[in-house]
Amino acid sequence: MVRIAVLKESAPGETRVAATPETVKKFVALGATVVVEHGAGLTASIADADYAAAGATLAPAAKLLVDADIILAVQGPDPARLKGQSAEAWLVASLDPFGQRARVDAYAKAGIDALAMEFMPRITRAQSMDILSSQSNLSGYKAVIDAAATYGRAFPMMMTAAGTISAARAFVMGVGVAGLQAIATARRLGAQVSATDVRSATREQIESLGAKAIFVDSVAGIEGEGAGGYATEMSDAYKAAQAELVSAHIAKQDIVITTALIPGRAAPRLISDAQIASMKPGSVIFDLAVAQGGNVEGSVADQIVERHGVKIMGYANTPAHLAADASALFARNLYNFLSAFWDKDAGRPVLPDEDEITAAIRLTRNGAVVNERLLGTA
Ligand code: NAI
Repeated sequence: MVRIAVLKESAPGETRVAATPETVKKFVALGATVVVEHGAGLTASIADADYAAAGATLAPAAKLLVDADIILAVQGPDPARLKGQSAEAWLVASLDPFGQRARVDAYAKAGIDALAMEFMPRITRAQSMDILSSQSNLSGYKAVIDAAATYGRAFPMMMTAAGTISAARAFVMGVGVAGLQAIATARRLGAQVSATDVRSATREQIESLGAKAIFVDSVAGIEGEGAGGYATEMSDAYKAAQAELVSAHIAKQDIVITTALIPGRAAPRLISDAQIASMKPGSVIFDLAVAQGGNVEGSVADQIVERHGVKIMGYANTPAHLAADASALFARNLYNFLSAFWDKDAGRPVLPDEDEITAAIRLTRNGAVVNERLLGTA
């Protein structure tokens, strides 16, 4: 019987857990044995008793990994923890392969098959397994909610007996999964919303959510779309035109949410200190890219920095601020992945070598790093 072990997270500020009673039940229904570390779900509001009721066994840290075939975690664990598991056990988690390369090497050395969920290809078949999407969606929501809480005014227009207050103007920069949710959330709260992206395909998406699209039209021939629907680095001419457009627009905004990322690179700088100075005092900027280098000059993870009367904020780990929902979606992503490859005869998931998903997410095999993206041979 395949044995699945669920780790309690140990990284500072990590509140999520990689399995929920719902996914435990489903793994058990597939014929797996599930062992959950004591207290693994507490920070996500899941009690040990709930896991037990779903069919899991609870175990202390020292015993958790004994004979484990599949280890589930949110973040890659310290390699020193990986002792006692089966030969060629799988580690399924968000492994930060570029940022934690030494750990990946250590996983290889420990004989682990490390599977990086953030490398999941963006193909239709893998959509339900995509942790970047599920977590970004919640992050886009949370950025708006926490920016609204920090803002000293209301979002909607309100007509009261004491007079009218005007609606907040919110500007979303970067309209991927997080940006789309940020637009929708800010609209629901009653703000006047505008948004921009380098990918021209987002114009229609912005407008369909009832927001105004702010785009660079003056630089010809730029689609801004690279492999897998991700953004590419833009030309200097484009960057100059974008900066000018944004400068004029940003000075009128009350709330700015930035979400821009380019895979494998530092986040692009979208807002300079001079642009912040042009904004009204009391405005709030939420930098969702702060942990990847930041879109906003001067942003610091987990702090509210005040510059020119403008508050700049952002979290090192935004989904961890919504631990229960983020865990529920993350856990389902892992379940959807493992169950899609479940081999009934083997009684466990089997990853065919030639599968596009296997090639994308498998980092280590037989004691070596095998991932093309990580080895730079892709
Ligand atoms: P992301 O998190 O990598 O980047 C966020 C956004 O920032 C992107 O829209 C990007 O174009 C934008 N950006 C980058 N540089 C910028 C700049 N200098 N100025 C303004 N904006 C900039 O993106 P995310 O959320 O991962 O989505 C990327 C694409 O992948 C989207 O088209 C999304 O719909 C697609 N997708 C497809 C999936 C599937 O088919 N399985 C799953 C999830 C997303």
